Amino acid sequence: MSTISSRSASAGRLLRQFALLLAVGISLAGCAERTAPTAAVAHTEVLQLIPAPAQAQRGDGSFRITTETAVSVAQGDAPARDAANHLVQLLRDTRALNLTVREESAPSPASIRLQLDPQSPVAQAEGYALDVDAQSLRIRARDAAGLFYGAISAWQLASAEVGRGPIEIPAATIRDWPRFGWRGQLLDVARHFHDVDTVKHVIDAMAQHKLNVLHLHLTDDQGWRIEIKRYPELTEIGAWRTPPGAGRHGTPQRYGGYYTQEQIRDLVAYAAARHITILPEIDMPGHAQAAVAAYPEEVGVTGERPSVSVDWGVNPYLFDTDERSMKFIEGVLDEVLELFPSPYIHIGGDEAVKDQWEESPAIRAQMRKLGVKDAHAMQGWFNAQLAKYLTGKGRRLIGWDEILEGGLPESASVMSWRGVEGAVAAAKLGHDVVLAPAGWMYLDNLQTERSDEPNGRLAVLPLSRVYELDPVPPGLTSDQARHVLGAQGALWSEYIPSRRHVDHALFPRLAAVAEVAWSPMAARSWDGFLVRLPAQLQRYRALGTDYSDGAFAADIRIDGGPNAVLNGGPAKIALGNQTGIGQIRYTIDGSEPTQKSSRYSAPFAATLPVTVKAAVFTEDGRPLAAARGRRFDHETLLSVDTQGLRNCHDGGPLGLRVPLLPDMPGMDTPVYNVDLFYACWTYRQARLDGIAGIRIDAARLARNYGLAHDQSKMHQYPSSAPQGERAHGELEVLDGCDGQTLAKVALPAGATLGEQFTLEAPLPPQEGVHDLCLRFTASIEGPLYAIGAVQLIEATAQSPPAMH
Ligand code: ACM
Repeated sequence: MSTISSRSASAGRLLRQFALLLAVGISLAGCAERTAPTAAVAHTEVLQLIPAPAQAQRGDGSFRITTETAVSVAQGDAPARDAANHLVQLLRDTRALNLTVREESAPSPASIRLQLDPQSPVAQAEGYALDVDAQSLRIRARDAAGLFYGAISAWQLASAEVGRGPIEIPAATIRDWPRFGWRGQLLDVARHFHDVDTVKHVIDAMAQHKLNVLHLHLTDDQGWRIEIKRYPELTEIGAWRTPPGAGRHGTPQRYGGYYTQEQIRDLVAYAAARHITILPEIDMPGHAQAAVAAYPEEVGVTGERPSVSVDWGVNPYLFDTDERSMKFIEGVLDEVLELFPSPYIHIGGDEAVKDQWEESPAIRAQMRKLGVKDAHAMQGWFNAQLAKYLTGKGRRLIGWDEILEGGLPESASVMSWRGVEGAVAAAKLGHDVVLAPAGWMYLDNLQTERSDEPNGRLAVLPLSRVYELDPVPPGLTSDQARHVLGAQGALWSEYIPSRRHVDHALFPRLAAVAEVAWSPMAARSWDGFLVRLPAQLQRYRALGTDYSDGAFAADIRIDGGPNAVLNGGPAKIALGNQTGIGQIRYTIDGSEPTQKSSRYSAPFAATLPVTVKAAVFTEDGRPLAAARGRRFDHETLLSVDTQGLRNCHDGGPLGLRVPLLPDMPGMDTPVYNVDLFYACWTYRQARLDGIAGIRIDAARLARNYGLAHDQSKMHQYPSSAPQGERAHGELEVLDGCDGQTLAKVALPAGATLGEQFTLEAPLPPQEGVHDLCLRFTASIEGPLYAIGAVQLIEATAQSPPAMH
């Protein structure tokens, strides 16, 4: 996706009332369950299922699973045996309970029984009936997927608690089936390559969330990730790039990787065993630079060979539209169809800037011959060729919503990412649609405004926002709504270089994606979801999944902001968290908070300097978020980190949170919030009384962004240095962006990317609070400069800061 597209993600509803704890779990269609009467949620009252089932009713008592419990299936009932094996494996992994699957003509007493049953009470595809009473746990379904999902639900009921050994499962009657047949998650393996084990890890997680389409974004400007035997250079050349700053800070000299066809077959089979279809995406005609780097003569428009791109965003390279290129593409698709049984094949279609086509005499001549009026219509023609080819092979084309712009082949389906409008337009035209709108479903957006967030995009996409999406947009008739196949999350990987980054971005938001795609609106409730989430976090911990606890982590701040204290007021510490759930326990003596530490209820007075540490627990004492700490002293009150800086236009967040170098894998990589168009940051409400200087931690980063037609929007701040000294530019400190210049520091010479440095300058005496504007005059042709932190320095008699 584009680095530059605007997002509508709001900061989300920040529900801060602990009153939420009064709410209880699942509000179920046809369910007699009621709200718990006390403030403390007894989680045993709630059926701990995510996604929420269509219908469920809690019964009396419970069923006890011990090592003696038989897991039984009828002889020859292969779907039941497979689902039972998954259940047993998950119980082993998360509860250290070893059960064995037995083939028996009739279930033994006190057993778990799974059965493919054409008379199962749930007739819907992928649905299941799960009945638990004191004697047995019984799963029936009319298809194999339904049995599998029944097994997942049984496992969830059994894994809500920490522990080993015998498990009590609440008696219940569950009748469940998915709202949508397409419940997906996109994983971009092109921008950063994720190995087979990581993809299997994602597949496992998807299965545990009842998701069933893994959309693998296999090709893009920055890498071609699937072996094509006919065209070996697609991976020999196209899978590798030389990263900016190669070799520094542990980054490789050559970055890349790809899946062999054998590995793809293995992944497809692994996914199929978990009722997941892998949807392959070969992105065309844009996002083609890696392919053109490998085969410039065959598929390039200009015939020139570029390198595999290191620039995120929108690059100019397109597939050619002549016969040779179209045959090449068919050759690729022939092998893709061999490998992937998916009924849909994703042909991309997004962000294809048409300059190369428009500038090519050959393509212009072809357009005239075809009677095609412009380059958009030419993309329509291109897509029509692909659709014809795919339908001829019994498959269906799906593409991003840009494919609507050039006229859509009748058989095509649309994946709506630029909001929901594409979905609405396509459904009204009678095309099937999948909802993946960026403002709700792009999980590379950060989840919180916390300073401990890793790399990512800076529209904050909180869990609550993901949860909000109704995949059927308003404005569709019920006939048109039938074209909505489902919904999916998207994990683009420009800022997701490692498995830990994948985990951090996906979890727990994948749980919200699952409920959006599976559960009927009547069964969905944000408050109920929050009550069921701690059990899900417990499962993540048991499975070793590195989920983000950011939505629950304690935000620690000075009530009223630092100036309240700098102005001579008392220091009051305020704690809270994004979702507003849980009990916050804190210390002020530097020790690690436990469940026995003081419980936070309202802002409390503290004497500075103080180190506040806070951890968050559920009412019944399970961990919600690990401890976070923050020190408040005079120095920290006079400082701000990159996350505390705002953009210079409307005071909003900056656009991207980028690592020191683009291919650094570590979670603790230094990060810098940047706005690609304006090298300008605002330190709001800086109190300058008694301040004599400013110190800025900065870095020289790669400017690795393809901005296409937005290139011209990059702002160059003029340098006021004498001619000979302008080479590297300066950092300027202004009193408001339109105000007077307070300080100016030359940037260090050199062009080494990933270099961190500190700039220090005296400030003239000022009074009161000022919005300081910090901007770089370095050339926009060169590296990107960024600010990591700002420290105001107080005047001391002895040592005013020196001008560098
Ligand atoms: C996209 O994000 N370019 C589909």
